[in-house]
Amino acid sequence: MEASPAPSVKIFDTTLRDGEQSPGASLDLREKLEIARQLEKLGVDVIEAGFPITSDGDFEAVRAIADELTGPVVCGLARCVEADIDRAGEAVRGARGGARIHVFCATSKIHREHKLRKGTAEIVALSRRSIERARGFVDDVEFSPEDASRTEPEVLVEICAAAIEAGATTLNLPDTVGYAVPAEYGRIFAMLRAQLPQIDRDGVVLSCHCHDDLGLAIANTLAAIENGARQAEVTVNGIGERAGNAALEELVMALAVRADAAGGGGVNTGIRRREIYKSSRMVSTLTGLSVQRNKAVVGENAFAHESGIHQDGMLKNPETYEIMDPRSIGVPESKLVLGKHSGRAALADRLRDLGIEASGEVLQAVYDRFKTLADRKKEVHDEDLEAIVDDLHASA
Ligand code: KIV
Ligand code: ZN
Repeated sequence: MEASPAPSVKIFDTTLRDGEQSPGASLDLREKLEIARQLEKLGVDVIEAGFPITSDGDFEAVRAIADELTGPVVCGLARCVEADIDRAGEAVRGARGGARIHVFCATSKIHREHKLRKGTAEIVALSRRSIERARGFVDDVEFSPEDASRTEPEVLVEICAAAIEAGATTLNLPDTVGYAVPAEYGRIFAMLRAQLPQIDRDGVVLSCHCHDDLGLAIANTLAAIENGARQAEVTVNGIGERAGNAALEELVMALAVRADAAGGGGVNTGIRRREIYKSSRMVSTLTGLSVQRNKAVVGENAFAHESGIHQDGMLKNPETYEIMDPRSIGVPESKLVLGKHSGRAALADRLRDLGIEASGEVLQAVYDRFKTLADRKKEVHDEDLEAIVDDLHASA
């Protein structure tokens, strides 16, 4: 019997829309184009390039990206407002790699009663009309019931059924405020597939969109994928509203590391992993949002080792303490940082790199001085080691 192919998940990148909604992260047209070109190199399936109704600048940026890129589908966001949909339709009309309009409407009780001040029937009717209008521009329409994870299941089923009937080809279920926990978020996807068999029968793509308010965005995204989501919405470096969105690099590597371990099984993406680090640096530089040192996958410390036990393991076999090869994501190499927790093995290795062979008593003498210095400094640098060695020679 032939093995069935490993499932794959589409990567929908919203760095240029939800990511840009991070306070202080606004990008101009030139910057958006530069990031979009890099996202194309990275191999994302869909780029949500902006929210065209918000400003002429955003409209022009979405249009320029749609007109230039040939790989990914380019998407514009729209509320269930005619002017929004028409503007988004106009912006993506010429998309060379495919055009999508993403229509959203809030559905949870709190949003219905306090933000929209509309009842469920009105919201369903409005969403239906808006999706139909979007279909007048493009065949590829995504619908999001905003705050889906806090929406009553029966309301979610009703609006999703209406959205499919109206022509939505992707149904995205956002955890808008990062409130869900993984088992619960996964169950929403399973419940919808069970209640609406047309999702699987007609190839409607279920999508997940997770915010990180409780630090669960990636866990929730994985739970959704396990329950049938075939599109994941992410941003580079996890930037986005408040605590941000699920981070592209974390999701891709979580799937890749486990798929590699399963010998190609697991869930695949079309991402070119070697472009990850470059994409991260570019987004950080252009948005001005720095990446925390201990950030998974792309943080400065992600492949740095300070303790002696870890450094000794790394020198013997990097797989003892690294589950991914840094070069596979475009980071040149791992770092053995010399500090007060480091041991002789890493010290001798660094001395060798500096062209200094030291063993036995000499190594012990350098080591003793190194430890004294490391108690005073957070990190001991190459110049410090050279000074220690020179000093020992002078006093010999
Ligand atoms: O978080 C959210 O609900 C959104 C929607 C517009 C999809 O970003
Ligand atoms: Zn969002």
